[in-house]
Amino acid sequence: MRTTVADLGIVALRPLRADDSAAIAAQVSDFEVARWTARIPHPYPPGAADAFLLDAAATDAAGATLHRAVTRAGDDSLVGIVSLVMIRPGVAELGYWVGRVAWGQGIAGAAAAAMIGIARDQGIYRLLGKVMDGNPRSMAVLARQGFVTDHEAPPEEVVRDGQRTLLHSFVLDLTAGGQGA
Ligand SMILES: CC(C)(COP(=O)(O)OP(=O)(O)OC[C@H]1O[C@@H](n2cnc3c(N)ncnc32)[C@H](O)[C@@H]1OP(=O)(O)O)[C@@H](O)C(=O)NCCC(=O)NCCS
Repeated sequence: MRTTVADLGIVALRPLRADDSAAIAAQVSDFEVARWTARIPHPYPPGAADAFLLDAAATDAAGATLHRAVTRAGDDSLVGIVSLVMIRPGVAELGYWVGRVAWGQGIAGAAAAAMIGIARDQGIYRLLGKVMDGNPRSMAVLARQGFVTDHEAPPEEVVRDGQRTLLHSFVLDLTAGGQGA
């Protein structure tokens, strides 16, 4: 996928850098951030952020993913990450997290909107979003962007931190009108 820098009012998206490692580790070490994601381990092991950055750089270079650091506009510090994972040609999954001190300020919503624009520019016509039971903030982020329940993908039982939970699937059709198009 091509590099795109997006600036959407309160946030800017930029490529991840090796020196983002400490900011990532500090923010995702928070169980309240990690617990709602599919892959962030808790406790967060030493070196995990560096390993993540290397892996993200490799999969981005291969076109399998696109990761962007989320910053506040005018401030280069990473406050979250937004990503696309290619599922098949034209279809990708949107992911994101924001450090807890920055919650409730519209940052994830603005970052998601920016990434949806990037996805559309890259020819993606269908975006998927997966949210665990009990994460209304993330459901609100997707709903505000126009995502709806994916009736083709019923809730899936997953195990996270030893607990069974349901993963709800949402979809945004980028060929349709409305906020997402
Ligand atoms: C989900 C997350 C990214 C939201 O980040 P954020 O920057 O606070 O999000 P925003 O401020 O843009 O939007 C939050 C939305 O949740 C709503 N909200 C906040 N608290 C809520 C609650 N307790 N119940 C329901 N909705 C709530 C807000 O009203 C807002 O919706 P609106 O824009 O329609 O008003 C952040 O909480 C996070 O990183 N969580 C942990 C990781 C995670 O869940 N990642 C997504 C995995 S699917």
